[in-house]
Amino acid sequence: MERQVKRIGVLTSGGDAPGMNAAVRAVVRTAVGSGVDCIGIRRGWNGLINSDFVHMDTSSVSHIIDKGGTMLYTARSEEFREESGRTKALATCKLLGLDGIVAIGGDGTFRGALALSRQAAAAGHSLQVVGIPATIDNDIGCSHYTIGFDTACNTAIECIDKLRDTMQSHERCSVVEVMGRHAGYLALYVGIAVGATAVLIPEHEIDFDRDIVEKIRRARLAGTTHYMIVVAEGAGSALEIGKRIREETGLDPRVTVLGHIQRGGTPSARDRETASRMGYEAVMSLMENRGNRVVATRDGRIVDLDMEQALATTKTFEMDRYQVLEALSVSRDGGI
Ligand code: F6P
Repeated sequence: MERQVKRIGVLTSGGDAPGMNAAVRAVVRTAVGSGVDCIGIRRGWNGLINSDFVHMDTSSVSHIIDKGGTMLYTARSEEFREESGRTKALATCKLLGLDGIVAIGGDGTFRGALALSRQAAAAGHSLQVVGIPATIDNDIGCSHYTIGFDTACNTAIECIDKLRDTMQSHERCSVVEVMGRHAGYLALYVGIAVGATAVLIPEHEIDFDRDIVEKIRRARLAGTTHYMIVVAEGAGSALEIGKRIREETGLDPRVTVLGHIQRGGTPSARDRETASRMGYEAVMSLMENRGNRVVATRDGRIVDLDMEQALATTKTFEMDRYQVLEALSVSRDGGI
């Protein structure tokens, strides 16, 4: 007979992302509605190490679907990277009687979950883990989409639209840095959506003259007198890029680093809906005794994948989007 999970833990770990709360809510409501006890682990993996938890019921997740951030708090745990940290975490799992954990976060969160599950198995304790991808970077190999990306794009677009008003009035060049330490998805999607003059991303080797100066020149020749350069955090420092634009073009750029504002705010419809479906699916996986999985999206469908394989999957960067950006960035009348 299949073993039925009785009590699961849910946690959020790594950088927060709008929609994490909707995922927590879906996990709790699906579990409790199916007769499975649910414990909220606070402050990411540190919560398991330090026995920092809260019992959850359906009403403890009321009125959070529309809130950014995460009600469970989050952290990046150095201690959990060490076997000794995970041993403490396992002691908490044993004490609380947890037989499953839903970990909401990025790649690092999933790596931690897998290490914990393996260590538990080696100690003769069965602990199934399921990951839900949530990061504004959209950089998880196995999933086409990660919770928080849509909201972060919309936040960045709203800020850049405001910036454009003043840049246009003063006929200036704007260099805007968006988040994405290792990935340029946010920069690229935002760049297309705001009609940027140029976008710099870590996945594309930068030739300053070709990728910035020449694009500004082309825009100027087409009649534009303001320029919007979008830089992914991992592609270089916006301040340095602004300085170099000044040296090489004589323009007087203004630099804006959007920073953590991109991680906050009311989650969009897409993030709430995706998070709700992923949270439901994660609990279903555990209840159907499919552990060590990552819930992911594939062409809009929700699937669950083996966690080890999911972690080994890399994302092919959508360079075709770069071509779209190039084709659309300059108009004859100088507009965006
Ligand atoms: O969550 C991903 C991310 O927002 C990256 O885009 C960014 O580089 C990083 O987190 C910032 O991390 P922290 O909040 O620790 O400064």
